[in-house]
Amino acid sequence: MRNINEDTITQAVIAAMSGCTDGRLTSIMTSLVQHLHSFAREVKLTEAEWEQAIRFLTEVGHITDDKRQEFILLSDTLGLSTLVTAQNNAKPPGCTEATVFGPFFVEGAPWFEYGQDIANGARGEPCFVRGQVRGIDGRPISAAVIDVWQSDDAGHYDVQYAGSGAEFEHRARGRFRSGADGHFRFRSILAQPYPIPHDGPVGRMLDALGRHPWRPAHLHFMIEAPGYEKLITHVFRDGDQYLDSDAVFGVRSTLIADWKRHDPGVAPDGHDLAVPYYTLEFDFVLNPSREKQ
Ligand code: BEZ
Ligand code: FE
Repeated sequence: MRNINEDTITQAVIAAMSGCTDGRLTSIMTSLVQHLHSFAREVKLTEAEWEQAIRFLTEVGHITDDKRQEFILLSDTLGLSTLVTAQNNAKPPGCTEATVFGPFFVEGAPWFEYGQDIANGARGEPCFVRGQVRGIDGRPISAAVIDVWQSDDAGHYDVQYAGSGAEFEHRARGRFRSGADGHFRFRSILAQPYPIPHDGPVGRMLDALGRHPWRPAHLHFMIEAPGYEKLITHVFRDGDQYLDSDAVFGVRSTLIADWKRHDPGVAPDGHDLAVPYYTLEFDFVLNPSREKQ
């Protein structure tokens, strides 16, 4: 293998992988090399641009740690996360649609009982959420595990306060089980629009491309029940100014809901509130897993 040139390099790299015994890896890497080379040919990538790309990816790596995942942000802002989510989560009409996972989920959030407050000190206007988990046949799904997480009124998730002490741990996130009739209910705070972390290389990329970093207000849900596909989704707040320009392309019309504002008074949990509060009702319809169908 000598005297490789512009015309023969793609085939040479593919041939070099001929000893790979993993069929899936071979097909992924063959396609990746073909597309990467086609891209470089199409834009006639210069050496200076190649160096700039290497510097950019190096910075993405350097800023990434166990709390900050800049590679996921890059994938999200380039639409790759939405593409991968969409092509792996096709569901029959009537099922709740999936959307991007995002980088702020935390494994092992605290458990709550029906109706409890998950804010745990997170600041924001009170919000009471209720709904039902059902199958596509309309039957309620009991004991579904429902993970919820959201940002506070400053647009920050608890994990973004890391370094400020354990007092910020597990704020505005929690787990529940749906009741015998599939219902769930909890108190939290009103979701607000927020910018994705944009003080790093991905933020500079958005800036250079004339893009903003904002996401419309939303609540994250992950719902798991035996016999059903795991659902990872959001519920978005109707009327938000960023619904049509989400920085990570995650909005689906079927996931937009009305958060109703109420004047001070007796809230759904029976407490007399001296401040305005919000209510949200949203039902989730799960797709049976393939084994069950
Ligand atoms: C989120 O909604 O938490 C999120 C999703 C993608 C990138 C950044 C944040
Ligand atoms: Fe979010």
